[in-house]
Amino acid sequence: MEKQELLYEGKAKKVYATQDPELLIVSYKDDATAFNGLKKGTIAGKGAINNRMSNLLMARLEKEGIPTHFVEELNDRETLVKRVSIVPLEVIVRNIAAGSFSKRYGVEEGAVFDRPTFELSYKNDGLGDPLLNDDHAAALGLASREELALIRNYALTINGLLKKIWADCGVTLVDFKLEFGRLGDGTIVLADEISPDTCRLWDAATHEKLDKDRFRRDLGGVEEAYVRVMERLTNSL
Ligand code: TMP
Repeated sequence: MEKQELLYEGKAKKVYATQDPELLIVSYKDDATAFNGLKKGTIAGKGAINNRMSNLLMARLEKEGIPTHFVEELNDRETLVKRVSIVPLEVIVRNIAAGSFSKRYGVEEGAVFDRPTFELSYKNDGLGDPLLNDDHAAALGLASREELALIRNYALTINGLLKKIWADCGVTLVDFKLEFGRLGDGTIVLADEISPDTCRLWDAATHEKLDKDRFRRDLGGVEEAYVRVMERLTNSL
């Protein structure tokens, strides 16, 4: 399968058409942004790590019955995926208070929730990805009630699976963001990526941050954190 025209360029990935109208090629970049694109930088080697990690994790989720867009890894930065139209929602699951949750509600980072917290934002850079609930999402026509229920179910199931995968390599899954898409026939599948860009991953023993927060907060050791968390995952599989 070969790349044809560039269909879309996002902040961290490019998407190309292929000869098959139902398949696309995603190409991961080393570019990193934060705060809705206000902060820009490069994380050397990130594209290859995110590509590999996302594929490993999506393949594991598929085995456990979660439908995803993943088809085949083509090379270190590129992956063949099913064409979807993205549901414009950022689907976030939190196990521990951090990031915008801590800021918004005045809770110290690290407070462990009794049960996972499910959250939706409207994927809309112009509006700054505002938080919304199911009624808002339905009123805006972003997804049907049935789709929202399915997305919530998938997200919480994925949380249970990912928490276990990461715990097995000594990493605590603090929170993460998912995106879902619709195939041509309307089937909802997991899309986008699962990587240190889109998850908070803390060393289980030391709580050291092994994810994009090192870039967002200028903590240093960004590249090394991506390499180390990837090594933990591959060594445990
Ligand atoms: P938040 O605490 O900043 O809302 O982030 C929650 C999770 O979502 C965290 O794991 C990082 C991830 N995330 C993204 O993948 N993309 C984004 O644009 C933002 C703001 C967060």
